[in-house]
Amino acid sequence: MLEQKDIRGAYTISADFYRNEKLFALVKENIFARSWQFITDNGRLKAPGHAVPITMLDGLLNEPILLTRDSDDQLHCLSNVCTHRGNIIAEGECHVGSLRCRYHGRRFELDGSFASAPGFEDAINFPSSTDNLPCVPFGQWKTMLFANASTTNQLFALPELVADMDHRLSWLPLENFLFDSTGTREYLVKSNWALYCENYLEGMHIPYVHPDLATALDIKDYRSEIYKYSNLQVGIASSAQECFDLPKSSPDHGQRIGGYYYFLFPNMMFNFYPWGLSINVVQPLSQELTKVLFISYVWDASKRALGAGAALDRVEREDEEIVEKVQKGVKSRFYKRGRYAPRWEKGVSHFHELLKQYVPEIE
Ligand code: FES
Ligand SMILES: [Fe+2]
Repeated sequence: MLEQKDIRGAYTISADFYRNEKLFALVKENIFARSWQFITDNGRLKAPGHAVPITMLDGLLNEPILLTRDSDDQLHCLSNVCTHRGNIIAEGECHVGSLRCRYHGRRFELDGSFASAPGFEDAINFPSSTDNLPCVPFGQWKTMLFANASTTNQLFALPELVADMDHRLSWLPLENFLFDSTGTREYLVKSNWALYCENYLEGMHIPYVHPDLATALDIKDYRSEIYKYSNLQVGIASSAQECFDLPKSSPDHGQRIGGYYYFLFPNMMFNFYPWGLSINVVQPLSQELTKVLFISYVWDASKRALGAGAALDRVEREDEEIVEKVQKGVKSRFYKRGRYAPRWEKGVSHFHELLKQYVPEIE
């Protein structure tokens, strides 16, 4: 855990952040284009020959990538853009022996290497390494796959991002979690993406905004822990509420934990409940519009409706309503910036520090 910065006298970032188009563009290039993004789980590509096209940060980066499993059972993450004239290669999920661009018939192996190109018989110095599909950096934490749109200038290495989650939840059998399409949905929030994250990063609003959720958690025992590129809010279950049955190998063995709320910089939330995992990915669309993806993995369906992890849709709508109000508020000529509640808003301050670290223009 990081030594926490003293925030007793500190101020939040300037409201200018939520209004300034230049800062939005800087955040896109300096942060999102260099960040690790959750893309899917490895269960999606079980058999060799499977290929899954994905658009990284649809609506912001719009980077077309392609996950493949080759005949040697190796996973690859490739650019989904043909090296000839730039057509998108795989248009949908498919099962194939090799990849073929339907514009002029160029072929690639499932590891991205160039295979053939009709019409290029007379080309000289051809093919060369630039005819292979570029590899997109990707990595795995347990069953979860992450990719990065930057090959040379990533914010940090993936293991640094997931370090505490990995240590803390090493006992959790993620391989037994099942993807659940019914708990998977998209929300459109009329606010800046960072306001949505800031709201997530403090439990102080729970008694005010989520009266039902407040009864499931013992809010006086609420705590947040700060790590280098992530932070964790620990939700202690109130008595008689569902909590994890933590094994001896867990550092939290003996505690009544109802939820682990991990924030992974800059925009991902991994929420672990006794029923399973809810991943939220916050995708900026514009300065004032954000898409939030909810992706669910079920471990024990019988606990779905119990404790702090129940009624996620209702909690989400309660959060959206308040965050959309804040979006209107931060545009006021009278609002400049605020202060941090020292006991509650360490996570918000940590988020702001990271934003400023990568975009020094933020005040
Ligand atoms: S763009 Fe793919 S073969 Fe021409
Ligand atoms: Fe909330």
